[in-house]
Amino acid sequence: MRILVTGGAGFIGSHLIDRLMEEGHEVLCLDNFYTGHKRNILKWLDKPYFELIRHDITEPIRLEVDRIYHLACPASPVHYQYNPVKTIKTNVMGTLNMLGLAKRVKARILLASTSEVYGDPEVHPQPEEYRGNVNPIGIRSCYDEGKRVAETLAFDYHRQNGVDIRVARIFNTYGSRMLFNDGRVVSNFAVQALRGHPLTVYGDGSQTRSFCYVSDLVEGLIRLMNGDYIGPVNLGNPGEYTILELAQKIQQMVNPDNEIAFKPLPQDDPKQRQPDITKAKTILGWEPTIPLDEGLKLLIDDFRSRLNSGESSN
Ligand SMILES: NC(=O)c1ccc[n+]([C@@H]2O[C@H](COP(=O)([O-])OP(=O)(O)OC[C@H]3O[C@@H](n4cnc5c(N)ncnc54)[C@H](O)[C@@H]3O)[C@@H](O)[C@H]2O)c1
Repeated sequence: MRILVTGGAGFIGSHLIDRLMEEGHEVLCLDNFYTGHKRNILKWLDKPYFELIRHDITEPIRLEVDRIYHLACPASPVHYQYNPVKTIKTNVMGTLNMLGLAKRVKARILLASTSEVYGDPEVHPQPEEYRGNVNPIGIRSCYDEGKRVAETLAFDYHRQNGVDIRVARIFNTYGSRMLFNDGRVVSNFAVQALRGHPLTVYGDGSQTRSFCYVSDLVEGLIRLMNGDYIGPVNLGNPGEYTILELAQKIQQMVNPDNEIAFKPLPQDDPKQRQPDITKAKTILGWEPTIPLDEGLKLLIDDFRSRLNSGESSN
């Protein structure tokens, strides 16, 4: 099949491309390199069934494809808050452009949505039916409200134009190729620990998160794309850890002498978030397989070799 991956030079997109290329598909990677890098897809650049397109999805594009994995959008608060208006444009105009393309060429399109659509949830864990508790005017709104509109657009294109959609709500995902400077908790702790700096915990560290290893997530995306269920489907690892527990794990793995430093909680930081993955289990037969300790080891090994090879802040 000919498959377009928007945001294909990013963290999740590049791992997805690895799988699709290994399965023998023809892959078009579309990216504006805002947070993505050529190094993530370097091994495919000279392959005849791989094509790299430098393009910003806020502008329309005409392509002939069978499937679209629509991932383009900065995912970490540092990057999506850097230019919030651009983030909204990417989510709204970018998603409109991709749905328009899917409609024109009758391609199936999978939207990478997010657990952020649940905001600061009052229901725990969050099933897909939960409608969320989102602040429409906060500093995260460009991302979480942007993704909510993206979901609305997907479902309206489906109802109105019969576009074949799939919607994944992705929870915290981590793994090799994450940016050092993306401000997400796992990458922060890993970089701090490897550099011998104190690990920064915001608040008292009792807020919880779930962490899904990227290869598990990619498997979930592929199953959702290939199945009949349009979603939305939660994809994430229900194992719940406090931020303090995570800091201590990484501290132990890298250097038990590293200190943990506590700082005030940022605005709009959700207290807890954990996926209810009953739908993914029953409909897709999917659940995560990589335990946190194993995934952290893979990430730390990757970060260590990138730091040793001189890769700097990003
Ligand atoms: N990583 C997570 O934990 C997580 C959680 C929930 C949802 N998601 C979603 O998954 C998708 C991929 O996330 P990621 O973690 O790989 O992030 P990432 O920042 O590594 O990847 C996003 C990619 O999109 C590209 N991009 C951004 N804006 C673009 C634009 N206007 N035009 C073209 N390309 C553009 C970036 O250059 C980058 O390569 C995103 O849609 C994100 O919202 C990720």
